[in-house]
Amino acid sequence: MNVLGIETSCDETAVAIVDQHGNVKSDVIHSQVNVHAPYGGVVPELASRDHLRNLTHVYHTALERAGLGLGDLDGIAVTCRPGLSGALLVGIQLAQGLAWAADKPIVGVDHLVGHLFAIHLKHPAPPGSGSGTPTLPNEPASLPHVALLASGGHTAIYKVGGFDTSDIEEIGATRDDAAGEAFDKVAKLLGLGYPGGPIIDKLAKEGDRAAIDLAKPMPRRSSLEFSFSGLKTDVARWVERHGRPGNDQQLRNLCAAFQARVVDTLVSKTVRAARLHQLDCIVLAGGVAANRELRERSQAVAERYGIRVVVPPLRSCTDNAAMIAFAGLQRLRRGDNDSGQIEMSPKTLLPRVTRKGRGRRPANPGSGATSSRAN
Ligand code: KG4
Ligand code: ZN
Repeated sequence: MNVLGIETSCDETAVAIVDQHGNVKSDVIHSQVNVHAPYGGVVPELASRDHLRNLTHVYHTALERAGLGLGDLDGIAVTCRPGLSGALLVGIQLAQGLAWAADKPIVGVDHLVGHLFAIHLKHPAPPGSGSGTPTLPNEPASLPHVALLASGGHTAIYKVGGFDTSDIEEIGATRDDAAGEAFDKVAKLLGLGYPGGPIIDKLAKEGDRAAIDLAKPMPRRSSLEFSFSGLKTDVARWVERHGRPGNDQQLRNLCAAFQARVVDTLVSKTVRAARLHQLDCIVLAGGVAANRELRERSQAVAERYGIRVVVPPLRSCTDNAAMIAFAGLQRLRRGDNDSGQIEMSPKTLLPRVTRKGRGRRPANPGSGATSSRAN
């Protein structure tokens, strides 16, 4: 079974082909970073136009690299939510056109579900490595597990029990900014460019995390919710007081202090969630899972409690279409077909327990008690 995945929800134009075992047969990504970099963030209208310009070429390249034609596909999966409406529409239009022309089943995929399933992808061994064995993450993830999904638009902890959307339960999320958004906003504040995560990650490596004392985000130990806007404001205040650092040690220290605060809170709450739910496997997902310190620290802390951390290869963390093909494969296997009725939405389908914004919360949000199903 070969499934074609299409991803255009934000600033990556991506098409991939994945087989029924999760083997990635091709995985083509055209990044729009250069289009949005001058603005320090994604400009929705520019994103849609760039998808339109590049998607057909990316699609043909994906088929060519897999050595397949449209007729060889068994189904099509396309991101239909959450994301930028205009950008999503470009991918959905191509997917629907292909499905109609080749008479193939088509399914819409929630982008967040794609991220959560990225851990199961098997990428081919790099050329020249001498083995035909696909590259797997360190060890396969067991089910159920706790997953930390930290990206530019979302940050939440989930309990993942299987391959259906109904098997995924949010157990805590951010009340305001996503972790990746905090990286991007702080990078903009420091004049470092877009996207901020990889740049701060690199600078932080040479900085002293203890040199600058920044606010702790959501320090309440019992809560599984996150809040990153206070930390971002604290960096802004520091810059107001001391001026924007040049390309010097002070800049590296500030990046290290900021990153340490984000990583510490992500790690401690995710490990706490696993312990509360008595699960011994944690999966990292989303663009922020590419962060070096998060990957290292989560392994070190989880190990103390006998918990395994499974991390996808870097290219499966950030947006890609292979994860969409794999999530779509699960629906196609069940016989689903959304032909002619793909529901496009800027919001996720996954039920939310964390209410955005300030205010009182239930006494024990980690218990799985539902406070709202805001979408
Ligand atoms: O998952 P993703 O590619 O797109 C969304 O669905 O949002 O995540 C992009 C986010 C950006 O905010 C980017 O700054 C962040 O992931 N990111 C990182 C790193 N690489 C990407 N954040 C921290 N450290 C990194 N190495
Ligand atoms: Zn994403």
